[in-house]
Amino acid sequence: MKLPPYDNFPTLSGDKITLRQILPTDIQDLIEISFYDAIQATTVEQAAEMQDKINQDYRDGNSIHWGIIENATNRISGTCGYYRGLEKGEGELGCVLLPQFKGLGIMTDAMRLAIDFGLNHIGLKRIWAVTTRKNDKAIQLLERLGFIKIADLPDDEVEYELKTAR
Ligand SMILES: CC(C)(COP(=O)(O)OP(=O)(O)OC[C@H]1O[C@@H](n2cnc3c(N)ncnc32)[C@H](O)[C@@H]1OP(=O)(O)O)[C@@H](O)C(=O)NCCC(=O)NCCS
Repeated sequence: MKLPPYDNFPTLSGDKITLRQILPTDIQDLIEISFYDAIQATTVEQAAEMQDKINQDYRDGNSIHWGIIENATNRISGTCGYYRGLEKGEGELGCVLLPQFKGLGIMTDAMRLAIDFGLNHIGLKRIWAVTTRKNDKAIQLLERLGFIKIADLPDDEVEYELKTAR
């Protein structure tokens, strides 16, 4: 197992997108998709405070959070990462796109890079994701990536697990 933090923050490159560290100059663009403990930021100050907490979680070895860059435009389109479970050799994947970047296949590519990193670099034994039963787009994304539903959870949530990670 190779848990965060790393000597250099991992940058993962694909054909259409790149996953990289989030920079202070990204924060303004990410306000509407900045969340911490399920609370959404509404100001740039709140989003920056959340990013500080996320950076601390990374330094503590508990998470890794990437910005997703569209290679063609160099614009930040969303975020994804592992947010829980790393100390047990497991990873809860989470992700969110800015509205104007939905429907383009960006998150499918981003999650593939994150999954490859989780399995082959961190050494995760299990990768899972939680969403709500009615979140069709998230469920379609997870199924496209090879996740299967393994549990119905309270509050209308469902847990999906990557098949190949077992
Ligand atoms: C979940 C979420 C990231 C999915 O976004 P998305 O745009 O549907 O996912 P992708 O970027 O992979 O794009 C897939 C769409 O692009 C299309 N697409 C185009 N080219 C594609 C390609 N090369 N590969 C895959 N899909 C492609 C697909 O057909 C699909 O469109 P459709 O939904 O109209 O069928 C987005 O809805 C979101 O941010 N939701 C809020 C946060 C959330 O729910 N997170 C999930 C937590 S588990």
